[in-house]
Amino acid sequence: MQDDVRIGVFICDCGSNIAGVLNMEELLQWSRTLKGVVLADEGKWTCSVDYIEKMKQLIEEHKLNRVVVAACTPRTHEPLFKRTVKEAGLNPHLLEFVSIREQSSWVHMNEPEEATEKAKDLISMGVAKARLLEEGEEIRLPVGSRCIVIGGGVAGINSAIQLGEQGFDVTLIEKKDRLGGILRGLHSIHHNGFRTEPEHLVEGLISRLNELQNVEVITGATIEEVDGYIGNYTVTVKSGNSSRTIKGDTIIVATGMEEIKPEGLFLYGESSRVMTQLELEEALKNGRMPEFQNVVIINCVNSRNDERGCCNIGCHVAIKNALELKERNPQASIYILYRDLTVVNRESASVQKARLKGIRFIRFHEKEYPHVASQNGHIKVTVHDLILNDSIELMADLLILTAPFMGSGDVEQLRGKLKVSASGDNFLQEAHVKLNPLDFPSDGLYLAGCARSPKNTKESIEEAIGASMRASIPMNRGYIETEGIVAKIDLENCNKCGLCYKRCPFNAIKTDSEKYPHVIEALCKGCGLCAADCPKYCISIVHFSEEQIMAQIESALEREPEKKIIGFVCHWCALGGVDMAGVSRLQYPTNSRLIRVMCSARVSLRMIEKAFELGAGGVLVAGCEFPTCHYIEGNYAAEKRLKRAKTMLRKRGYDPDRLWHLWCSAADGPKFASKMKEMSEKLGLK
Ligand code: FES
Repeated sequence: MQDDVRIGVFICDCGSNIAGVLNMEELLQWSRTLKGVVLADEGKWTCSVDYIEKMKQLIEEHKLNRVVVAACTPRTHEPLFKRTVKEAGLNPHLLEFVSIREQSSWVHMNEPEEATEKAKDLISMGVAKARLLEEGEEIRLPVGSRCIVIGGGVAGINSAIQLGEQGFDVTLIEKKDRLGGILRGLHSIHHNGFRTEPEHLVEGLISRLNELQNVEVITGATIEEVDGYIGNYTVTVKSGNSSRTIKGDTIIVATGMEEIKPEGLFLYGESSRVMTQLELEEALKNGRMPEFQNVVIINCVNSRNDERGCCNIGCHVAIKNALELKERNPQASIYILYRDLTVVNRESASVQKARLKGIRFIRFHEKEYPHVASQNGHIKVTVHDLILNDSIELMADLLILTAPFMGSGDVEQLRGKLKVSASGDNFLQEAHVKLNPLDFPSDGLYLAGCARSPKNTKESIEEAIGASMRASIPMNRGYIETEGIVAKIDLENCNKCGLCYKRCPFNAIKTDSEKYPHVIEALCKGCGLCAADCPKYCISIVHFSEEQIMAQIESALEREPEKKIIGFVCHWCALGGVDMAGVSRLQYPTNSRLIRVMCSARVSLRMIEKAFELGAGGVLVAGCEFPTCHYIEGNYAAEKRLKRAKTMLRKRGYDPDRLWHLWCSAADGPKFASKMKEMSEKLGLK
């Protein structure tokens, strides 16, 4: 610790949210005894304009050079207090945030004394870390005005038009020989309330595109390589026999989707009279429709099961196509067999219209899918009608299956090149479903349309516009600033083992001619995977250094360590789950002492061992549920490391069963609370 450390602790009452449970006077007294603390102050609402002004004055008056705010959650309020300390003349990295509302007063409402003791520990842990905080730098990167759009379907074309019309230089790359994507295969769509021919829509968009001098279109192209970072991306594409490298400041990925063929289900592939909705569209479009009189449509084929959820668009498409068939042959009998009808707004009118036209709807139970058999050249469909509670037999000469979709097959290759995540069905994963739905975790990379999930045309266009707006922000501004939570490598102990650059999910570590690693700060997201895996511990993460985290562990375990659980929680989903438990006032034992890391991948074997060495009753590592880590694959790395940790603990004489894990979503408050209860019970900590 530097001699001149002067820490101010600011404790928030949050009205009565905190002060109604915790003993604030005790917390103030406690804080004043902590090493390095020169001021502890209480605010009724520390985030109010008045208190923020007061905080700035106190920082100046008391010459504070570290600040600890004990209040709600860093996930919502840390940026405000970072700005405050910055305005008071301090480097924002000299702030530490302690959550005594979500982690104490709200979740231990009936145990005020123990909750106060826990809050004391949380403040001590914050102060222990604050003593070791160092100034950091925000990183500013220049961003030019070139965007590369990958995928020439309706989303990609719209993104290119939007950006082109704003004056940005755009390169639109499409793998097929012509633009249009999945729309080219469709017979009709309902767009903006009107029945539209997709071909017309696409041609209209292409002529708008052709008017833009600053948009280049490359068709028949495959992506060979993607390199770089925001402001400096390069994409190598192969078109024909030649390859070329395109430079871009941002990239929008709009690679679309494809239908999953229901092979082996409902006679699909065995009879030419069994087809999917997409195949029906193609047959209608190309005039290759067989004669039909009795049509059965089965919805939710191979979807809404353990493998995948609702396909989002199937109900709407089934009704649209049933109406289309009815129009072609008004005498035809048409049945739609469904589990639930997921139709909203204007689409509900089409259900009514279909009913009036004589299209019949039969609801079946998710556990009793219709049975399909071939009989005398016809298709016999037996369905148990949930409403009538009776079985019905339907003879069909045309069976249409509403099959689900998956992201483009190219995603498998592309995700590795872009260093992004995708679901098992090849849908690309956004940075955060609510907070950043059109961004990837890496700056300057955006996604739009069916590359993310199945959508109708209107939604795809809306997303395309959204993604182009996201991409235009840094290009308009001309730069981005990042928080500066990055890896720093001290080469003194480096033995050039190469683990760091092999494992970095963002390709942010490169090596020089002598094989020494260095960090490209513009690419580094600060997950800490490299730091935790480095066998020589020569990598540090700004604001989450090994020493700082060790100081938090030591501080947490100063009093009655055997009763405590040290929980390492990732800032994103795990802390989100913790906060959700708080917001929902879920009550759980008071023995957890949580340490925030950016990603579960940051937790090193040394940290786990340290907690047990100091006598912790249990250790929990909590991160995002698979596959949604905000750092692509940090949770996978953490999971593997936990296995190694158990072996290590066994060898060192600790009980490996005291090391637990939790993978959850930011909405999983109940999961977190019950894990804490279960851990306490099973480990005999309460
Ligand atoms: Fe949550 Fe990686 S960010 S585990």
